[in-house]
Amino acid sequence: MLLKSCLLLILCSVVALSANSYDGYKIYDINAQNNFEKQLMLRLSQNADFDFFDLPRAADAATRVMVQPKDQPSFEELLRRFGVDYVVVDENLGATLEKEQLENQSQRLMAQRGTSRSISFTAFHRHAEINAYLDELAKAYPSRVTVQTAGKSYENRDLKTITITNGDGRKGKNVIFLDAGIHAREWIAHAGALYVIYQLAENFMVNAALLKDYDWVILPVVNPDGYEYTFSNSRMWRKTRKPAGSCTGTDGNRNFDFHWGEVGASSLSCVDTYMGPTPFSEPETQVVRDLLLGLTGRGKFYLTLHSYGNYLLYPWGWTSGLPQEWRSIDEVAQAGAAAIKKSTGTKYTVGSSTNVLYAAAGGSDDYAFGVAKFPISITMELPAGGSGFNPTTEQILPFVSETWTGIRAMAEKVIEKY
Ligand code: ARG
Ligand code: ZN
Repeated sequence: MLLKSCLLLILCSVVALSANSYDGYKIYDINAQNNFEKQLMLRLSQNADFDFFDLPRAADAATRVMVQPKDQPSFEELLRRFGVDYVVVDENLGATLEKEQLENQSQRLMAQRGTSRSISFTAFHRHAEINAYLDELAKAYPSRVTVQTAGKSYENRDLKTITITNGDGRKGKNVIFLDAGIHAREWIAHAGALYVIYQLAENFMVNAALLKDYDWVILPVVNPDGYEYTFSNSRMWRKTRKPAGSCTGTDGNRNFDFHWGEVGASSLSCVDTYMGPTPFSEPETQVVRDLLLGLTGRGKFYLTLHSYGNYLLYPWGWTSGLPQEWRSIDEVAQAGAAAIKKSTGTKYTVGSSTNVLYAAAGGSDDYAFGVAKFPISITMELPAGGSGFNPTTEQILPFVSETWTGIRAMAEKVIEKY
């Protein structure tokens, strides 16, 4: 009996690991030195076969790209021909991810021993565990915490929001709305949102000032189908999972109806930055839209968590022009960056998306600011772990607690201003 279940277990884990293993995939850092080389990278990034973890930016920095085995010879040849500087930062992503998957699996099981909570900050957790955690909090703190199902994903998963208050019963307070995980593979973002929830709900006494005149509404997993797919099939999946043309998925952060598709988004459904067939084609972005619009007036601060790159980005993402009120947003973002710098020394770059990163229209931050009228709207790009999207399990807690330091400082600034 015991032997049989062990055999089954081994078989199961072999099956799980064989799904899109990234065997032989390499990750390169490209050091584009001049405009020509940057244009070359920009061109390549529009090819669905190359996964650019960060697009060549306005500012100078290395570009990281994942390349499948069959494309490596021609890719390296191209780089050599044009004399582009590069280094290989992971020789075999498949091997790295396999090890990490086993580690996460054992940490997950360990974390659940001897606690009544479904999640921890020593492992990355599945969507069902995250939703279970939200329900556990609603049950444990009924006067301060409520959980709602805001809608469903394409594959019918519940998109749950948690609303955290101080329980004084006052209605109509200002709101801070936070979401994470619109991009599936950015696992540290989901963990970051969970840590904010943990702090506000379970460490309430310490954080009571953040809930005195404000309620917090948090959607920790915007794109659960994509998130689950990164566990079950393809760790580096970014988009939603609704079929689109001959491929699958839309980039949720190009799908919002504000200057939709004008810049930095692809109309090709196989590309990672696919804008979708129409604005709000995805049930998941519709949910975020409806939550944002439902908060117009009360909603003062919209914060969306992504990874990676250490950025605090604000509108606009569709143009290099700045909104008239940019100084207020800048002040909030600078407060976050300064608090993080002071606590851990980690440096964040602050500025408008277009100016410090790249132009990309149809993002949730532009929509929250431009349409839902949140006066402060920020995209936070957490730090890279591993080769970018795959921090180790030991990195989770230091990363999310540092992130919380920044979020707390930004929230304090918002509360002081509005
Ligand atoms: N890395 C994010 C993305 O590419 C940045 C989004 C910034 N906001 C924007 N509206 N472009 O989706
Ligand atoms: Zn992202």
